[in-house]
Amino acid sequence: MSNKKSPRKEEARKKYQIAILAGDGVGGEIMRQAVKALRFIEGAAPVSFELVEAPFGAGAWFETGKSFPAETMEICDRADAILKGPIGLGFEETQKIPVEERPERGGLLPMRRRYDTYANFRPARLPGALAHFSPLKPEVIGGGIDFVIIRELVGGVYFGKKETGVDADGRRYAHERLEYDEFQIARIARIAFEAAMKRKKILHSIHKSNVLKSSVLWCEVVDEVGRDFPEVRVENVLVDAAATHLCIHPGMFDVMVMENLFGDILSDQAGGVLGSLGLMPSACIGPEKAYYEPSHGSAPDIAGKNIANPYSMIGSAAMMLEMSFGMRREAEMLWRAMQSVFMDGYSTQDLSRPGAEMTMVSTDEFGDRVVAALANGGG
Ligand code: IPM
Ligand code: MN
Repeated sequence: MSNKKSPRKEEARKKYQIAILAGDGVGGEIMRQAVKALRFIEGAAPVSFELVEAPFGAGAWFETGKSFPAETMEICDRADAILKGPIGLGFEETQKIPVEERPERGGLLPMRRRYDTYANFRPARLPGALAHFSPLKPEVIGGGIDFVIIRELVGGVYFGKKETGVDADGRRYAHERLEYDEFQIARIARIAFEAAMKRKKILHSIHKSNVLKSSVLWCEVVDEVGRDFPEVRVENVLVDAAATHLCIHPGMFDVMVMENLFGDILSDQAGGVLGSLGLMPSACIGPEKAYYEPSHGSAPDIAGKNIANPYSMIGSAAMMLEMSFGMRREAEMLWRAMQSVFMDGYSTQDLSRPGAEMTMVSTDEFGDRVVAALANGGG
């Protein structure tokens, strides 16, 4: 790849506008690394990225009184894709923000709802050579870990009707409904079958149909949608059992599909299986708009220390290149570049393990090394 822009080719460049929402905590530090990688790719491929920064999250609330300010909404509405960092603050700081306006309820969930980003892809990948990052024994990991959790992101108990109050006995109560209809299930199931068709043609459908009616409906609809994908083998697994399987033989999974809350929990567990939530990028895809974010939080305890792992932020940018801009080759190069930094023996400190000889690098240095690996042809 060459970094030179030829003025004659300038017109042929595809232009993409990307809303950059760095978020809170370590967001700024890790976003800078993703931006470095995007700037490199822009210099090497016939694209140009207009990066438009906008406030989002707790910081935005303190600045403007809104976690998802109107101005940010407009920027996101116009953008071809949204790259978003983690949001949220520590417990003390969060108390200063009214409950309904806190960045999760006042920013993130409204964003998911606004763009109807129902399909959340959370890939969990660890090549065999990096098995030492995982707390699992090498013999459990075998040749490596490579599965993707597809999480329904705009339904279920997250978005169901909520009510709090005091009942006739004077007891405080909270009700929230776990709601799904067949349309919501069918569209995420279809996405999962399509993903399975591109991979090993095995789909694990995760549910709790021994207790929940919503899961009974889930299974029926998955079965119906599956008729359009006769080549895909569907395995039904109860969510509690799936949690155990993830620890005991993660290699059995390839594509997993599940409702919102199950996906929230199992995707964090997947991060644990890999060895760090810092290894979990994600894509949130809607009918017209997609946004990309790490699966982890804003880690306020280490914010500003230049030690956070930028992998899931850079990985989210890689997912954006592939899924929003069709830049599969560049996305692959970015993945390989990140892996090569690890293979060369460098990592951020979240991945330091007793017995594993790694040189610890800062957030910035990790980003620089990724760009250097890209410049060497993608690692
Ligand atoms: C995630 C996060 C969010 C969720 C929070 C921040 C609302 O944990 O994306 O997994 O629960 O979906
Ligand atoms: Mn989560």
